[in-house]
Amino acid sequence: MKGNNAEEKNKEENETKKKPIITKAKGMKDILSEEYILKDTFIKKARVIAKFYGFKPIQTPHIEKEELFTAALGEATDIVEKQMYHLKVRGKDKLVLRPEGTAPIVRSYVENGMHTQPQPVMLSYNGSFFRHEKPQKGRRREFQQLGFEILGTNDTINDALIIKTMSTILEEAAGLKTSIYLNSMGCEECRSKYKKELISYYTQNKKTKDLCKDCERRRKINPLRLLDCKEEKCIQTRQEAPQIINFLCDGCTKNFKELLEILDASDISYYLDHFLVRGLDYYSQTVFEFFVEEKNKEDEKEKTESPKKVLALGGGGRYNPLAEILTGRDIPAIGGALGVDRIISLMTKRKKSTSTPKVFFIQLGSEAKRKSLQTLELLRKSKIPTRHSLTKNSLKSQLKIASKLKVPYALIFGQKEALEDNIIARNMETESQEIIPTSKLIDYLKKKL
Ligand code: HAM
Repeated sequence: MKGNNAEEKNKEENETKKKPIITKAKGMKDILSEEYILKDTFIKKARVIAKFYGFKPIQTPHIEKEELFTAALGEATDIVEKQMYHLKVRGKDKLVLRPEGTAPIVRSYVENGMHTQPQPVMLSYNGSFFRHEKPQKGRRREFQQLGFEILGTNDTINDALIIKTMSTILEEAAGLKTSIYLNSMGCEECRSKYKKELISYYTQNKKTKDLCKDCERRRKINPLRLLDCKEEKCIQTRQEAPQIINFLCDGCTKNFKELLEILDASDISYYLDHFLVRGLDYYSQTVFEFFVEEKNKEDEKEKTESPKKVLALGGGGRYNPLAEILTGRDIPAIGGALGVDRIISLMTKRKKSTSTPKVFFIQLGSEAKRKSLQTLELLRKSKIPTRHSLTKNSLKSQLKIASKLKVPYALIFGQKEALEDNIIARNMETESQEIIPTSKLIDYLKKKL
């Protein structure tokens, strides 16, 4: 008895000595084994696709000079204004954690003399990027991107090649159906005419009172940012705003038309989004974003074609002015980056939903057992996630497993059903049962599940 008391006292003392654990920093995430393996497999498959199209891998540092991004992304962008991680280091260098990958690629391309090699140069990269954003679903402070850049060419076929590479990766490496949203932001000349119209739209129509604080400020420094705001009231206010497509010069119109023709000829479908401007200042002409195809119910009811835009899985565009800003050289280029974390999270969700059983197959009697593999094959071929327990013989024990698995339907295949080519579908929630001819089983389940 004495020994036991001492042990308990010790345990209590240990409990009180325990320190609160040091948790990860806000907006960061541990990627545990299962997710790591999924991500690793996705990146490997993506690399094979990128290699086929001609991209060569590159890795640039996580730490860069601050001025690289302030010059490249624009002073009035969210990233430069409030999202960069500034490092406290010895010495005079102003260093930051990289918030994106395109400016570093342009720096590296020139610094390593890639502009003297045969053009274009096609590069791909993946790794962590850092933005001090408000953490929320699909938005982290450390996140991973898989990026593609084609430098040293103005040929529109490369705009299509970037879009094709990214959409193939989303479809084949991630198994995701996506929608592409496209716009042209024109060249400097088109944009300067457009900006004037935009400012006058917001001032003349007294729309400014309906803007959020950030937009009110952006209106004066960089009016294009008004189109990029995610605040509901700013989205409403821009509905009637002029569209840049009506301000494109002949050259930019020709380029955009050419891109659409290439995409049409390649069977790549897209939606035009005349307010798409992206959150970074270095873009000119083509801009695009990828969204997971998620038709919302209202759309289906109204039979409209436009799917619901949720989180962007990737985006990019042509950035012809960037090299000029950073290096004084004229290097036309196009690129895009995929958000790996968002892709992996969708893949995990899909994997879970396809591996969670939707039906439990129950067989009763020798005739049913003999024919059960045949019925199971029907379900397998139709990709209906199914569980069974063929060695069990009683209805009670098999129903018990079905309810433990929480499947919506149990399929009861008894002696009578086996002889008459029917099966009983039992709704596990309502306990109601229907007799279904085996030939109609798959259609029935597809409607119900
Ligand atoms: P971005 O649109 O800022 O473009 O980022 C590309 C993708 O990265 C987004 O579509 C999204 O999927 C993912 N992403 C961005 N921020 C976060 C975050 N906080 N948490 C999770 N995922 C995020 C760029 O970065 C350009 N450098 C792309 C580019 C390449 N343009 C030309 N070449």
